[in-house]
Amino acid sequence: GTALAAPAERPRADNIAHRGGSGGAPENTIAACARARAAGADLCEFDVQQTKDQQLVLIHDETLARTTDAEQVFPGRAPWQVADFTLAEIRRLDAGSWFSPRFGNEGVPTLRQALELLGAGGAGLLLEIKHSPRSPGIDRRVAAELQDNRALWQGRRLSLQAFDWQAMRLLHRMVPGVPILLLGTSGARLPADTGYASALVLPHAGLTERQVRGAHGRGLRVYAGTTDRPRVLRRLVSYGVDGIMTDRPARLRGILAR
Ligand code: G3P
Ligand code: CA
Repeated sequence: GTALAAPAERPRADNIAHRGGSGGAPENTIAACARARAAGADLCEFDVQQTKDQQLVLIHDETLARTTDAEQVFPGRAPWQVADFTLAEIRRLDAGSWFSPRFGNEGVPTLRQALELLGAGGAGLLLEIKHSPRSPGIDRRVAAELQDNRALWQGRRLSLQAFDWQAMRLLHRMVPGVPILLLGTSGARLPADTGYASALVLPHAGLTERQVRGAHGRGLRVYAGTTDRPRVLRRLVSYGVDGIMTDRPARLRGILAR
């Protein structure tokens, strides 16, 4: 491929709000992403899972218990697995009050709602697909949802990431043109063919400048995460990473502006 720009010419790193920006608002909510955008985030990272009726919702854990009031609304449905509830049931849940009563109006968003936010001029989206034996076919449904709503994201920033690289290789063929990011662990060896991917997303711990250069040499961008620590944020910027995932986008904005 074409040579990437030298570090000095690179654009500033993307400011990515982890779980929509979960420092000052409940994670994986529309309110979190809207606030993150106002705080300077370029992208909101969201976690995508599948309901019992194969709808796509944004929530991190495999269960509803930590970030919604599912235990109160549906007593007796332990362990409140996302994959055991329909979208209609999940729509009844409050996904904000656990964080603060100020967010009592937040529900578990659908993927479609996030695309609508993007279409309305919101922050870009970095969608993490949470693969699980409980959600077979999730990639096909994400691809269908993106194809059906192309007008909402075309020309805007949208990318997909997951830990399952083989799944992402197949997904790339289903939605050509949508950048694919590979979530990795530090020290993970890259397979020979990563041509379908645009970037690696690596944990900041153990990341070296040499690794960043090596990825760049292969035409892969490097996103690093997830941290709120100013010293670590500054170090990642000095390594020339292309994006940083943080729960505190306002803090990162201050560091990137320097
Ligand atoms: O650093 C990437 C991140 O999104 C993966 O971790 O558990 O927050 O989804 P998690
Ligand atoms: Ca995530």
